[in-house]
Formats: sequence, C-alpha cells, structure tokens
Amino acid sequence: MKMEDTMKKAIILGATGGIGRQLAKELARRLDHLVLVGRDSDRLSQVQEELTGSKAQLSIVTLDILDQMALEAFVEDLDADLLVNCAGVAYFSLGSYLATANEKDLWQINYHAPVNLIKKLVQKNQKIQLVQLSSLAALFPHPYLAAYSSSKAALQTYTLAIQEELSQSDSPVQLSLYILGPVQTAIFPPELVEALGGSRLQMKPEKVAQQLIRFIERDTSYAVIGLRYRLLVSLGRLLPKRWIIRLLARYLRKGLNR
Ligand SMILES: NC(=O)c1ccc[n+]([C@@H]2O[C@H](COP(=O)([O-])OP(=O)(O)OC[C@H]3O[C@@H](n4cnc5c(N)ncnc54)[C@H](OP(=O)(O)O)[C@@H]3O)[C@@H](O)[C@H]2O)c1
Repeated sequence: MKMEDTMKKAIILGATGGIGRQLAKELARRLDHLVLVGRDSDRLSQVQEELTGSKAQLSIVTLDILDQMALEAFVEDLDADLLVNCAGVAYFSLGSYLATANEKDLWQINYHAPVNLIKKLVQKNQKIQLVQLSSLAALFPHPYLAAYSSSKAALQTYTLAIQEELSQSDSPVQLSLYILGPVQTAIFPPELVEALGGSRLQMKPEKVAQQLIRFIERDTSYAVIGLRYRLLVSLGRLLPKRWIIRLLARYLRKGLNR
C-alpha cells in the first residue's frame, strides 16, 4: 500500500547524510510531517531549505547521538508513524590501531543508540515502524573496517532476535533492517572508494532512497537493497567465508596504501 495512505509523519535520524538527505526528499513528497534530526543545525537548515515547497510540513531537531541523556529525552517525546535511522559512522584503518575513543563513539552511534531506540520504543508500546540501515559488512567481516563491520553485525543479530520477540507478542512496533552495499556518500574516504573500483560499484543515494521507500511500503522486515547486492550475498553464501574475507582484505588494503 502507498505510504501516503498509511502514514502521516516520519522522522529521519542522520537527515544531513548522503542517504538521509535523499530519503528526506522522498518522504517530504509523500507525507504531511517530516522531522529532520542531526547534530549540526546549519546542515539541517540547509536540508530544510532544499525541501521547501514540498508537501510535508518540516521541522528540525538538533541531536548528537553521543549525548545519551539527549537521546533518551528525544525518544521520550517521539511521536511518528515512521522513524528511519540513517545515522552512522565508519573508520577505515588497521583495526588494531583504531583509537579507543573513536571505537567507543562508533559503537555508541552504530549499535548502542539504535538498541536504546528499539528498547524505548518497545517499552512505550506505541505504533511505529522503525527502520535501521545495515551493510554488507554485517554479513561478511570486512578487514580494515573491523569495528564498523562488527557493530553492523551486532545490530543485525540484535534486530533479528527482537523482531521475532515482537512478532510473538503482538507489539505495535514494527522493526525493519535493510542491508546496503556501497553507496555514493561521504561515509567512506575517497581512497577506499577508489580501491573498491570507484563510484561505478556504488549505488546512487537517490536510487537507494527510492528502494527503501518500496520496502517500507511493503512492510518488509529484512532486505538486501539492490539486485546486484542480492546476487552477491547469495554467491557469498556458497563460498567459504575465509575466501571472501581474504578477497575483501586484498581489495580494501589497496585503499590503505594510497
Ligand atoms: N554509504 C555506504 O556505502 C553505506 C553502505 C552500507 C550501509 N550504510 C549505512 O547507511 C547509514 C547512512 O550512511 P550514509 O552513507 O548516508 O553516511 P553519511 O553520509 O556519512 O551520513 C551519516 C549521518 O550520520 C550522522 N551522524 C554521525 N554521527 C552522529 C552523531 N553523533 N549524532 C547524530 N548524527 C550523527 C551524520 O551527521 P553529520 O552530517 O552531522 O555528520 C550524517 O547525517 C549508516 O548507518 C551507514 O552505516 C552506508
């Protein structure tokens, strides 16, 4: 069913990012209210300006996900039909040399904050669809992105387990997790993008946003976005995991040496 027939209000966390921004455009055309959330008020205002004239009434909320008290207050007041979490960080480096502070922030943003969101929303017991964005790095360990890969794998495991609990308890909270391959955004440094074959292999954020809308409209709880990546995942399941990790390491290491 079309989103505009079932939903009125959506919230995007990480609305200033490559994917969040495009998703905001799509949602602003369809819904009555759209709340743009991010940590940088200037960038949020920019996105809001870009969307001026679209159907949705827009508002912005400044929130740093690393501020746990602010995050809790935000969830307490939260009221929407749809919440899409597009916030995330990645650090590309030799895993053992990633600074502990960066590693802690990464886990807070990519894992603990989404888990807290899920817990609070389930406890509030109000009807909402919560969408988390995940990565192929959750399915195949990515050398040189070890912390990112692990945080996405942990979030996937947590989400799939809770999805089952929710479906057995008639909860009004609907939880979805969508796996993305490489997308043309600024989350990964250019040298890594080049090592991965340049932007040819990356999906455009516009296309990702449109596909996300399709899966949300179908109430899909788990999906890999993009036919090319669905095929890749199927192929990956046939090969020994060790081979895939070695292949990934060879590719990704090229980015380190640039
Ligand atoms: N791009 C890819 O290739 C790819 C592949 C698979 C999965 N994903 C996932 O898709 C999601 C969106 O990624 P993207 O590619 O759009 O990345 P992006 O362009 O770097 O955007 C990341 C967003 O997260 C926000 N953010 C980071 N730290 C934050 C914090 N402490 N508090 C609040 N917001 C914070 C950023 O805000 P600022 O604007 O203030 O920095 C930005 O809006 C992430 O979960 C990512 O892991 C991306």
